[in-house]
Amino acid sequence: MTEKQITLTIDQQSVTVPEGTTLLEAAHQIGKEIPIICYSDKTTANGLCRLCVVDVNNGRVLQPACVATCSADAHVQTRNERVERSRRTILEMLNASVNLTEAPEIQAYIKDYGVDAQRFPEATQREHPLYDDNPFYVRDYSQCVTCWRCVQVCGEDAQYTFALTLDGRGFDTAVSTLFNVGMTESPCVFCGQCLDVCPTGALKPKIEWGLEQGLSADEIRQATRKPKKHIQSQE
Ligand code: SF4
Ligand code: FES
Repeated sequence: MTEKQITLTIDQQSVTVPEGTTLLEAAHQIGKEIPIICYSDKTTANGLCRLCVVDVNNGRVLQPACVATCSADAHVQTRNERVERSRRTILEMLNASVNLTEAPEIQAYIKDYGVDAQRFPEATQREHPLYDDNPFYVRDYSQCVTCWRCVQVCGEDAQYTFALTLDGRGFDTAVSTLFNVGMTESPCVFCGQCLDVCPTGALKPKIEWGLEQGLSADEIRQATRKPKKHIQSQE
């Protein structure tokens, strides 16, 4: 059966797409880039970060382009004053609470949207211990934006291992193993897909981390042969 096609306008440009196409996909079709954090081409869109919001028909609420689908004759603006303000606020909140120094794409957005680093002076940075509990990679959730990509590829989007989940609530929400066990005690098979999709420095190959710490290749090799439980425990 032929897919039903619909036509809409994105930034004054007409675009025809199959019904069910997301606004993000339609925008890409005409070469428009929309900033994303929680979505990647390897994970199912989950609509968590809201950075991809766009203006549809000057509606009361902005729509997340990664999950909202196109409607016929809609007029979409991917970047206007309202959209910019919303994206800037999200980035300012993230910047105030997460260490983003190793997140190049987010840093580029921060520059592009003119983020004010002093917008939330009372905000507290999220701090987590560094997890060095396996021979392959370290986890630093102080750099985690809770985008959920790693949880998704570990689960139904790729590996079906389900070693990762979200733990805690609100500000304290963080990625964790199930029951907070060390990675070698979890179902993790060290496929590395979580590192591949992480948009920040929260997940890092142990070799890279060791070299950054000034360890010699021998020291890193020894550490990888004899993994430590945790550098700091989660308690
Ligand atoms: S560890 Fe990385 S991929 Fe996982 S939720 Fe945090 S930022 Fe996202
Ligand atoms: S990229 Fe669309 S909500 Fe995060």
